[in-house]
Amino acid sequence: MKFGYFDDERSEYVITTPRTPLPWINYLGSEDLFALCSNTAGGYSFYRDARLRRITRYRYNNSPLDSDGFHVYIRDGDTVWNPGWQPVQTEPDFYRCRHGLGYTVIEGKKNGVAVRQELFVPKGDNCLLMRVRVSNEGADEKALKVFPYVEFCLWDAMDDSSNFQRNFSTGEVEIDGAAIYHKTEYRERRNHYAVFWADRQPDGFDTSREAFMGVYGGPARPEAVFSGGCTGSVAHGWQPVAAQQFNLTLAPGAAEELIFGLGYIENPQDEKWEALGVINKTRAKAMMARYADGAAFDAALRTLSEHWKGLLSSYRASTGDEKLDRMVNVWNQYQCMVTFNMSRSASYFESGMGRGMGFRDSCQDLLGFVHMIPERARERILDIAATQFPDGSAYHQYQPLTKKGNLDVGSGFNDDPLWLIAGTCAYIAETGDFGILDELVPFDNDESLAEPLLEHLRRSFNYTRTHLGPHGLPLTGRADWNDCLNLNCFSEHPGESFQITGPSEGPVAESVFIAGMFVKYGSVWARLCRALGREEEAADAERSVEKMTAVTLDAGWDGEWFRRAYDAFGHVVGGKECEEGQIFIEPQGMCVMAGIGKEDGRAELALKSVRERLDTEYGIVLQQPPYRRYHLELGEISSYPPGYKENAGIFCHNNPWIVCAEAELGHGDRAFEVYRRTCPAYLEDISEIHRTEPYVYSQMVAGKDAPTFGEAKNSWLTGTAAWTFVSVSQAILGIKPELEGLRIDPCVPSDLKSFTVTRRWRGAVYVITVSDPEGRQKGVRELIVDGERLEGNVIPARPEGSVVKVTAVLG
Ligand code: GLC
Ligand code: GLC
Repeated sequence: MKFGYFDDERSEYVITTPRTPLPWINYLGSEDLFALCSNTAGGYSFYRDARLRRITRYRYNNSPLDSDGFHVYIRDGDTVWNPGWQPVQTEPDFYRCRHGLGYTVIEGKKNGVAVRQELFVPKGDNCLLMRVRVSNEGADEKALKVFPYVEFCLWDAMDDSSNFQRNFSTGEVEIDGAAIYHKTEYRERRNHYAVFWADRQPDGFDTSREAFMGVYGGPARPEAVFSGGCTGSVAHGWQPVAAQQFNLTLAPGAAEELIFGLGYIENPQDEKWEALGVINKTRAKAMMARYADGAAFDAALRTLSEHWKGLLSSYRASTGDEKLDRMVNVWNQYQCMVTFNMSRSASYFESGMGRGMGFRDSCQDLLGFVHMIPERARERILDIAATQFPDGSAYHQYQPLTKKGNLDVGSGFNDDPLWLIAGTCAYIAETGDFGILDELVPFDNDESLAEPLLEHLRRSFNYTRTHLGPHGLPLTGRADWNDCLNLNCFSEHPGESFQITGPSEGPVAESVFIAGMFVKYGSVWARLCRALGREEEAADAERSVEKMTAVTLDAGWDGEWFRRAYDAFGHVVGGKECEEGQIFIEPQGMCVMAGIGKEDGRAELALKSVRERLDTEYGIVLQQPPYRRYHLELGEISSYPPGYKENAGIFCHNNPWIVCAEAELGHGDRAFEVYRRTCPAYLEDISEIHRTEPYVYSQMVAGKDAPTFGEAKNSWLTGTAAWTFVSVSQAILGIKPELEGLRIDPCVPSDLKSFTVTRRWRGAVYVITVSDPEGRQKGVRELIVDGERLEGNVIPARPEGSVVKVTAVLG
């Protein structure tokens, strides 16, 4: 069942009922001020850090879901309704929500009144803008009351949701004409405030939630709206809000537009006050003046749309498959930008109070946005590298506000170092900027320990090859890519971390997955050394890679697939001898991507085992059989009920590894089949099962062992976005930036006879037409670049500004 449709012309997803299986959201903002906005205008906003600078409040895990947000109440006679249906839930005569690139438009109609609510965050400014157009489409004059409403958060979202004994007494506001200022803690340690404003004088206002909602009213039944109107309340403590009332009289056919803003203002220390206790509003007034009328609003919206057009123009495919095109050209890339902005902090599944920026997560996210925003990717790489330790290991997370490594979480996740090589080399392949390797970057955020970035990569590589276990495989540490496979931890009591490090003596756990990573990214490191003319270092790296390949084919091979690991007691994880968890997806994907076993058929065999043992109609599950009892020696993975999360869920992030691996072996049909099964646009028709947004990936889909097989959770903030973009743009459609040039190496389904990709790369534009007349799926038989035949399939970079015409024939 569908709950809307894609409007490809406008790059929008159009939702046609407010009763989506879960709130379907959008992200507004791409710099400092952000808002999450659902299809019923639920959501919240924050400045930079969703925990420390929360502007409006949101209650997760509530029933009904999603009743806090950016709501507008309409009172028309005795009828009270919202254009987005929530929170009053009066049945509308018409409803539509358009989620577009950085904006959302919600439209509702009731009893001849049409309301359109448009929301976006303008480029270069710290405010959320909202325009509300009310029109009378009926035959009689209408006397309406319109009430916009937001509830302020007292800034630190964690403290706000726990420290009530203090917070019920600290709230402060100021009211000045059409603006309501939220200034809690401004008097003491803050120099920032929030402001909600309207473009005209309201007919009433409230700033105390209790006055507006009533103590026992609530968002679905605000007393002020249902009874006499706003009361002019001034919040002292309790819950400061911004509510306003506008009385509109509309003749038949007449319409009015109101513009609102929710802004965040910082003042320099010596310009905080206008008078004792009166905040300095100069900057807020300048902000309001910037959006004083509809023309200014429209202009800002146009700038935003140009911005997105520019970003998405770096990779555009035309394949004849509308679902594929819309995912590649719009939604997958859009999600990659959201993961750039949010990492794993704020979504409808991430509270914005938990995790910092993950080291491995950020390096992988980069693979998905580096082509759109290479300068910001550069900055990100340097920030991440600065949280590496001198021995090459790394803080697992860092805080976006301070950019410092997170001490609570610490280090010891042994895949982390290699991801830095992956991210940095993807950046150099994209830009040709080898100069980044000369940048001096601190270790452990300590400037006195700064070394060139190249040295960071070298230590990443060396860390892995010097931390090997009894079989010669890399040590797992606290967890490799799989956070829930905690082989060195023995967590027995509630509340105890699964990620404490394990026994310091005796045998320790080893990871076949990291071995695969080492072969893949160690080879990339060797190529980088060679490109820099460091021949000896390259050869030395290659020897280590060869050795690791041999070890993987020995201790890492189980007979029909790659093993997953050895636990702290030296027992196999992910092998035939295991009763549960016999085969895992991660090493099959990573080892085959690395080319291990490609020559002797073991790579083929490993992927065959994946197909036979892990495949489902909704994607490939992480492992089989699921853990049905708790395994102390394995950790969190066996704490999830079978079929969920890492315990045999379809963990979408590593499905694209299989896509890349299948493409590596030339299986275009199979690669595309795997791609399609988790790709949201292809799941739109079963939205009642899938439940999350059909325009973005989710972290996890319940696996076949779960009672809710096919149900997705944790949409938006997942490494799936970056990796599927890599798999479809580089492995399937096969346009792959490398250190040496742009490699054209598609691996397509046999019924895709031709397609075109327009790719911006190192300042030039490549218009690439690929045909596969005989359905061979892979192998470039002929490559013509600007009329000339090229040997091989790597195009050296052309001068900036050129438009390069490329045709490739497979076969
Ligand atoms: C989550 C984490 C990521 C980890 C994955 C698998 O997505 O953010 O770091 O690799 O789970 O456990
Ligand atoms: C938990 C989750 C896992 C996530 C990790 C992040 O272990 O189950 O999916 O990656 O937390 O630290």
